[in-house]
Amino acid sequence: MLLLSPDKWNDYELIDSGGFEKLERFGGYILARPEPKAVWGKTLTNEAWRRQMHTSYTTGASFGRAGKEDSGTWHRLKTTPDQWYIHYRKDALQFRLRLGLTAFKHVGVFPEQAPNWDYIYTAVRELKTPQPKILNLFAYTGAASLAAKAAGGDVTHLDAVRQVVTWARENMETSGQGGIHWIVEDALKFVRREAKRGNSYQGIILDPPAYGHGPAGEKWKLDACLFDLLQECKKILAPHDSFLVLNLYSNGFSALVADTIITNVFGTTREKEFGELFLCDSFGKRLPLSVFTRFKL
Ligand SMILES: C[S@@+](CC[C@H](N)C(=O)[O-])C[C@H]1O[C@@H](n2cnc3c(N)ncnc32)[C@H](O)[C@@H]1O
Repeated sequence: MLLLSPDKWNDYELIDSGGFEKLERFGGYILARPEPKAVWGKTLTNEAWRRQMHTSYTTGASFGRAGKEDSGTWHRLKTTPDQWYIHYRKDALQFRLRLGLTAFKHVGVFPEQAPNWDYIYTAVRELKTPQPKILNLFAYTGAASLAAKAAGGDVTHLDAVRQVVTWARENMETSGQGGIHWIVEDALKFVRREAKRGNSYQGIILDPPAYGHGPAGEKWKLDACLFDLLQECKKILAPHDSFLVLNLYSNGFSALVADTIITNVFGTTREKEFGELFLCDSFGKRLPLSVFTRFKL
């Protein structure tokens, strides 16, 4: 089991965590956001947090309730623009992401995903198939799509929400890339259709949330739908010279759940690894945020 966190990254830093909150720097701006997993105490005082932060987010009534996003409010303590940019760079991989204060405490990037972006970049580069087709499901603002594109993939980016797909397109443009295919659809519906058409992909990346909706109101519930989705993915993942990355954010799922379901659906695979993604604050406290499994065929 692997425990992975981003390498030193100039434009991102988890400064402190605790008291169900995290204090993070995204480029030049410091934000305090709710974090249900930070069940320990802060290292810095509340006063030190207040002095540093540009903006904080306070949760609404649904904070921590299963199936509910954390509706709440951003409070600007110092000038914070509506949009700003950060850069991600790891060896030859680099791209830019636009950030913004959105509803539900998100800013447009999940920084703990950086080890998956690095893996995707390397995995795509190592494929022997020319211009390998890569499918990114539940793709949000597209960091994983940019990593796959930067490595030479022919990338299809799918999300249920049109606005985040537009956002991902802007991230592609600001990163100096082009040619990603954009799809606003329900993930399961799309993969079923691709399987019927006999289409296949050299790489599949999935980062499904615990609960979600397709654009036509299709219900996504991780524990009820994941097995079906993975079985459909098996039909469209090329049997050789291919890879898959599954990331799970659900609080209740351990890394072993991710690994067991992958073994159950895909059987014996090459270079399979699984584990947790975490962020380490500047005092060394480790904050686990998601679990993942990835393998090659
Ligand atoms: C946890 S985020 C993914 C984060 C992303 N992989 C990243 O690292 O930037 C989940 C995404 O799934 C999308 N989503 C939710 N339900 C969906 C569905 N049924 N079909 C397709 N996308 C869906 C949401 O709009 C959201 O962008």
